[in-house]
Amino acid sequence: MVVGDVHRFWRAFDVDYLVREKPALTMFVGDLGDEDVEFTRTISQVPVPKVVMLGNHDAWESFQKKRATQRLKDMLAILGDDHLGYDVREVPEAGISIVGARPFSWGGPSLRSPELYNELYGVHTHRSSAAKIVEAARRAEHRDLVILAHNGPLGLSQDPHDIYGKDFGRPGGDWGDRDLALALQRIEDLGLRVRMLIAGHMHNSLVHPRGAQRVRFCRLHDTLYINPAVVPRIREGQLGSESYFVRTSWVDGKCTAVDEVWADAKGQARHCTPAPFVELGHDREPFAEEDEGEE
Ligand SMILES: [Fe+2]
Ligand SMILES: [Fe+2]
Repeated sequence: MVVGDVHRFWRAFDVDYLVREKPALTMFVGDLGDEDVEFTRTISQVPVPKVVMLGNHDAWESFQKKRATQRLKDMLAILGDDHLGYDVREVPEAGISIVGARPFSWGGPSLRSPELYNELYGVHTHRSSAAKIVEAARRAEHRDLVILAHNGPLGLSQDPHDIYGKDFGRPGGDWGDRDLALALQRIEDLGLRVRMLIAGHMHNSLVHPRGAQRVRFCRLHDTLYINPAVVPRIREGQLGSESYFVRTSWVDGKCTAVDEVWADAKGQARHCTPAPFVELGHDREPFAEEDEGEE
Protein backbone atom coordinates (compact mmCIF):
# COMPACT_ATOMS: atom_id res chain seq x y z
CA MET A 1 0.00 0.00 0.00
CA VAL A 2 1.25 3.49 -0.83
CA VAL A 3 0.41 6.80 0.85
CA GLY A 4 1.37 9.93 -1.12
CA ASP A 5 2.43 13.32 0.29
CA VAL A 6 0.29 13.61 3.44
CA HIS A 7 0.66 17.34 4.23
CA ARG A 8 -1.28 16.63 7.43
CA PHE A 9 -4.33 15.29 5.56
CA TRP A 10 -4.88 12.26 7.78
CA ARG A 11 -7.99 11.02 9.57
CA ALA A 12 -8.90 8.15 11.91
CA PHE A 13 -10.55 6.35 8.98
CA ASP A 14 -7.22 6.18 7.17
CA VAL A 15 -6.05 3.97 10.01
CA ASP A 16 -9.31 1.96 9.87
CA TYR A 17 -8.77 1.30 6.17
CA LEU A 18 -5.16 0.17 6.62
CA VAL A 19 -6.06 -2.07 9.56
CA ARG A 20 -8.88 -3.61 7.52
CA GLU A 21 -6.73 -4.15 4.40
CA LYS A 22 -3.75 -5.53 6.37
CA PRO A 23 -1.16 -4.81 3.63
CA ALA A 24 2.20 -6.56 4.06
CA LEU A 25 3.76 -3.09 4.08
CA THR A 26 2.54 0.50 3.89
CA MET A 27 4.94 2.97 2.25
CA PHE A 28 4.77 6.72 2.94
CA VAL A 29 6.60 8.98 0.45
CA GLY A 30 6.85 11.81 3.01
CA ASP A 31 5.90 15.47 3.41
CA LEU A 32 3.96 14.33 6.47
CA GLY A 33 3.83 17.92 7.77
CA ASP A 34 6.27 20.81 8.14
CA GLU A 35 8.96 19.33 10.40
CA ASP A 36 6.11 18.24 12.66
CA VAL A 37 7.23 16.00 15.52
CA GLU A 38 3.79 15.25 16.97
CA PHE A 39 2.29 14.40 13.60
CA THR A 40 5.27 12.15 12.84
CA ARG A 41 4.51 10.39 16.13
CA THR A 42 0.89 9.91 15.02
CA ILE A 43 2.03 8.25 11.78
CA SER A 44 4.64 6.15 13.62
CA GLN A 45 1.85 4.73 15.82
CA VAL A 46 -0.35 3.49 12.94
CA PRO A 47 -0.60 -0.21 13.86
CA VAL A 48 0.51 -1.74 10.53
CA PRO A 49 4.00 -2.58 9.15
CA LYS A 50 5.27 0.57 7.49
CA VAL A 51 8.22 2.49 6.07
CA VAL A 52 8.52 6.26 5.64
CA MET A 53 10.71 8.37 3.35
CA LEU A 54 10.70 11.85 4.84
CA GLY A 55 10.32 14.76 2.38
CA ASN A 56 11.64 18.30 2.05
CA HIS A 57 8.76 19.67 4.14
CA ASP A 58 9.70 17.30 6.95
CA ALA A 59 13.12 18.99 7.17
CA TRP A 60 12.01 22.56 6.34
CA GLU A 61 13.77 24.44 9.12
CA SER A 62 16.79 22.15 9.05
CA PHE A 63 17.42 23.15 5.42
CA GLN A 64 17.19 26.83 6.38
CA LYS A 65 19.70 26.32 9.19
CA LYS A 66 21.86 23.88 7.17
CA ARG A 67 21.94 21.53 10.14
CA ALA A 68 19.54 19.03 11.72
CA THR A 69 17.25 20.78 14.20
CA GLN A 70 16.27 19.03 17.41
CA ARG A 71 12.83 18.56 15.88
CA LEU A 72 14.22 16.65 12.91
CA LYS A 73 16.42 14.55 15.21
CA ASP A 74 13.34 13.74 17.31
CA MET A 75 11.37 12.74 14.19
CA LEU A 76 14.15 10.41 13.05
CA ALA A 77 14.34 8.89 16.55
CA ILE A 78 10.54 8.38 16.65
CA LEU A 79 10.53 6.61 13.28
CA GLY A 80 13.66 4.58 14.01
CA ASP A 81 14.08 1.68 11.56
CA ASP A 82 10.78 2.64 9.89
CA HIS A 83 12.56 5.59 8.25
CA LEU A 84 14.01 4.08 5.08
CA GLY A 85 16.62 6.71 4.09
CA TYR A 86 19.48 4.79 2.42
CA ASP A 87 18.18 1.57 3.93
CA VAL A 88 16.41 -1.63 2.90
CA ARG A 89 13.30 -3.45 4.14
CA GLU A 90 12.40 -6.99 3.14
CA VAL A 91 8.85 -7.97 2.15
CA PRO A 92 9.05 -11.78 1.89
CA GLU A 93 5.26 -12.09 1.38
CA ALA A 94 5.67 -10.21 -1.93
CA GLY A 95 9.12 -11.54 -2.89
CA ILE A 96 10.59 -8.01 -3.01
CA SER A 97 13.00 -5.78 -1.15
CA ILE A 98 12.23 -2.08 -0.66
CA VAL A 99 15.29 0.16 -1.10
CA GLY A 100 15.16 3.66 0.32
CA ALA A 101 16.77 6.55 -1.58
CA ARG A 102 17.82 10.01 -0.30
CA PRO A 103 15.36 11.56 2.15
CA PHE A 104 14.16 15.20 2.16
CA SER A 105 14.63 15.73 -1.60
CA TRP A 106 13.56 19.09 -3.08
CA GLY A 107 14.25 17.82 -6.61
CA GLY A 108 16.24 19.71 -9.22
CA PRO A 109 19.98 20.06 -9.64
CA SER A 110 20.94 21.01 -6.08
CA LEU A 111 21.00 19.06 -2.82
CA ARG A 112 20.03 22.39 -1.13
CA SER A 113 22.13 21.64 1.93
CA PRO A 114 25.09 19.30 1.48
CA GLU A 115 25.89 20.24 5.10
CA LEU A 116 22.67 18.64 6.37
CA TYR A 117 23.19 15.47 4.32
CA ASN A 118 26.79 15.24 5.45
CA GLU A 119 25.79 15.59 9.09
CA LEU A 120 23.08 12.91 8.94
CA TYR A 121 24.33 10.47 6.30
CA GLY A 122 27.93 11.29 5.40
CA VAL A 123 27.01 12.25 1.82
CA HIS A 124 27.46 15.69 0.28
CA THR A 125 27.20 15.21 -3.50
CA HIS A 126 24.83 13.45 -5.90
CA ARG A 127 27.60 10.98 -6.63
CA SER A 128 28.17 10.00 -3.00
CA SER A 129 24.42 9.87 -2.43
CA ALA A 130 24.00 7.53 -5.43
CA ALA A 131 26.72 5.27 -4.02
CA LYS A 132 24.87 5.08 -0.72
CA ILE A 133 21.58 4.12 -2.43
CA VAL A 134 23.45 1.39 -4.35
CA GLU A 135 25.01 0.20 -1.07
CA ALA A 136 21.51 -0.26 0.37
CA ALA A 137 20.43 -2.18 -2.76
CA ARG A 138 23.42 -4.52 -2.36
CA ARG A 139 22.09 -5.51 1.06
CA ALA A 140 18.71 -6.53 -0.41
CA GLU A 141 17.82 -10.20 -0.05
CA HIS A 142 15.62 -10.31 -3.16
CA ARG A 143 16.62 -9.62 -6.76
CA ASP A 144 13.30 -7.85 -7.37
CA LEU A 145 13.32 -4.35 -5.91
CA VAL A 146 11.00 -1.47 -5.24
CA ILE A 147 12.75 1.88 -4.79
CA LEU A 148 11.11 4.33 -2.39
CA ALA A 149 12.10 8.00 -2.72
CA HIS A 150 10.56 11.40 -1.98
CA ASN A 151 11.16 12.74 -5.51
CA GLY A 152 11.59 10.70 -8.70
CA PRO A 153 14.67 10.28 -10.92
CA LEU A 154 16.01 12.45 -13.71
CA GLY A 155 15.37 11.03 -17.18
CA LEU A 156 11.56 10.59 -17.33
CA SER A 157 10.32 14.14 -17.80
CA GLN A 158 10.48 17.11 -20.18
CA ASP A 159 7.17 18.96 -19.91
CA PRO A 160 5.45 20.38 -16.79
CA HIS A 161 2.79 17.64 -16.81
CA ASP A 162 5.34 14.80 -17.01
CA ILE A 163 5.68 12.62 -13.93
CA TYR A 164 8.58 14.66 -12.46
CA GLY A 165 8.40 17.67 -14.80
CA LYS A 166 8.98 21.19 -13.46
CA ASP A 167 5.67 23.07 -13.25
CA PHE A 168 6.71 26.14 -11.22
CA GLY A 169 8.99 29.16 -11.73
CA ARG A 170 9.81 28.98 -15.43
CA PRO A 171 7.90 25.76 -16.18
CA GLY A 172 9.35 22.93 -18.25
CA GLY A 173 12.34 20.65 -17.94
CA ASP A 174 13.14 17.71 -15.75
CA TRP A 175 12.97 18.20 -11.95
CA GLY A 176 14.07 14.61 -11.21
CA ASP A 177 16.89 13.64 -8.86
CA ARG A 178 20.29 13.03 -10.44
CA ASP A 179 21.58 10.75 -7.67
CA LEU A 180 18.55 8.49 -8.03
CA ALA A 181 19.01 8.21 -11.81
CA LEU A 182 22.68 7.30 -11.31
CA ALA A 183 21.79 4.74 -8.65
CA LEU A 184 19.11 3.12 -10.85
CA GLN A 185 21.64 2.54 -13.62
CA ARG A 186 24.17 0.99 -11.28
CA ILE A 187 21.58 -1.18 -9.53
CA GLU A 188 20.50 -2.61 -12.88
CA ASP A 189 24.15 -3.16 -13.81
CA LEU A 190 24.39 -5.35 -10.69
CA GLY A 191 21.74 -7.65 -12.19
CA LEU A 192 19.02 -6.54 -9.79
CA ARG A 193 15.55 -5.83 -11.21
CA VAL A 194 13.92 -2.53 -10.30
CA ARG A 195 10.27 -3.54 -10.68
CA MET A 196 8.84 -0.29 -9.36
CA LEU A 197 9.91 3.16 -8.25
CA ILE A 198 7.60 5.07 -5.91
CA ALA A 199 8.13 8.81 -5.33
CA GLY A 200 5.87 11.82 -4.85
CA HIS A 201 6.85 15.45 -4.16
CA MET A 202 5.61 16.66 -7.57
CA HIS A 203 1.93 17.12 -6.82
CA ASN A 204 -0.90 16.01 -9.13
CA SER A 205 -2.32 19.47 -9.76
CA LEU A 206 0.11 21.71 -11.66
CA VAL A 207 1.06 25.29 -10.75
CA HIS A 208 1.52 26.10 -14.50
CA PRO A 209 -0.68 25.58 -16.40
CA ARG A 210 -2.76 26.06 -13.29
CA GLY A 211 -4.82 23.06 -12.27
CA ALA A 212 -3.73 20.82 -15.15
CA GLN A 213 -3.14 17.24 -14.07
CA ARG A 214 0.19 15.48 -13.99
CA VAL A 215 0.86 12.05 -15.49
CA ARG A 216 1.53 9.97 -12.37
CA PHE A 217 1.86 6.41 -13.62
CA CYS A 218 4.29 5.42 -16.32
CA ARG A 219 6.32 2.49 -17.50
CA LEU A 220 9.79 2.58 -19.05
CA HIS A 221 11.34 -0.76 -20.04
CA ASP A 222 10.45 -3.13 -17.19
CA THR A 223 10.05 -0.55 -14.43
CA LEU A 224 6.77 0.97 -13.23
CA TYR A 225 7.01 4.56 -11.96
CA ILE A 226 4.37 5.64 -9.49
CA ASN A 227 3.78 9.17 -8.21
CA PRO A 228 1.10 8.96 -5.49
CA ALA A 229 1.15 12.71 -4.64
CA VAL A 230 -2.54 13.57 -4.85
CA VAL A 231 -2.70 16.72 -2.70
CA PRO A 232 -4.87 17.13 -0.76
CA ARG A 233 -5.29 13.37 -0.35
CA ILE A 234 -8.67 13.82 1.35
CA ARG A 235 -11.69 14.98 -0.66
CA GLU A 236 -15.35 15.46 0.09
CA GLY A 237 -17.46 12.83 -1.67
CA GLN A 238 -21.25 12.66 -1.80
CA LEU A 239 -21.27 10.40 1.22
CA GLY A 240 -18.58 12.19 3.24
CA SER A 241 -14.81 12.36 3.30
CA GLU A 242 -12.71 10.00 1.21
CA SER A 243 -8.96 9.52 1.21
CA TYR A 244 -6.53 8.45 -1.47
CA PHE A 245 -4.27 5.41 -1.53
CA VAL A 246 -2.41 3.50 -4.22
CA ARG A 247 -2.61 -0.25 -3.75
CA THR A 248 0.00 -2.49 -5.34
CA SER A 249 -0.33 -6.29 -5.50
CA TRP A 250 2.59 -8.69 -5.81
CA VAL A 251 3.27 -12.37 -6.44
CA ASP A 252 6.82 -13.76 -6.28
CA GLY A 253 8.53 -10.43 -7.01
CA LYS A 254 6.18 -9.46 -9.86
CA CYS A 255 3.62 -6.69 -9.66
CA THR A 256 0.19 -8.05 -10.64
CA ALA A 257 -1.94 -4.91 -10.12
CA VAL A 258 -1.76 -1.22 -9.28
CA ASP A 259 -5.04 0.39 -8.22
CA GLU A 260 -6.05 3.89 -7.19
CA VAL A 261 -8.31 3.61 -4.16
CA TRP A 262 -10.53 6.17 -2.41
CA ALA A 263 -11.42 4.88 1.05
CA ASP A 264 -14.52 6.22 2.79
CA ALA A 265 -15.15 7.34 6.35
CA LYS A 266 -16.01 3.77 7.31
CA GLY A 267 -12.50 2.73 6.30
CA GLN A 268 -13.76 0.83 3.25
CA ALA A 269 -12.61 1.09 -0.36
CA ARG A 270 -15.35 3.09 -2.11
CA HIS A 271 -13.77 3.72 -5.53
CA CYS A 272 -11.09 1.43 -6.88
CA THR A 273 -9.76 1.80 -10.43
CA PRO A 274 -6.70 0.36 -12.22
CA ALA A 275 -3.96 3.02 -12.43
CA PRO A 276 -3.73 4.54 -15.95
CA PHE A 277 -0.15 3.74 -16.99
CA VAL A 278 1.49 5.65 -19.83
CA GLU A 279 4.12 3.78 -21.81
CA LEU A 280 7.28 5.89 -22.27
CA GLY A 281 9.17 5.57 -25.55
CA HIS A 282 11.92 2.96 -25.59
CA ASP A 283 13.95 5.36 -27.74
CA ARG A 284 14.32 7.62 -24.68
CA GLU A 285 17.95 8.51 -24.11
CA PRO A 286 19.31 6.74 -21.09
CA PHE A 287 20.50 9.14 -18.42
CA ALA A 288 24.17 9.83 -19.27
CA GLU A 289 26.49 9.55 -16.29
CA GLU A 290 29.31 11.37 -18.04
CA ASP A 291 27.11 14.46 -18.37
CA GLU A 292 27.14 14.85 -14.64
CA GLY A 293 28.93 17.79 -13.13
CA GLU A 294 29.34 17.91 -9.37
CA GLU A 295 27.61 20.62 -7.50
FE1 LIG B 1 4.57 17.53 -1.13
FE1 LIG C 1 8.02 17.46 -1.23
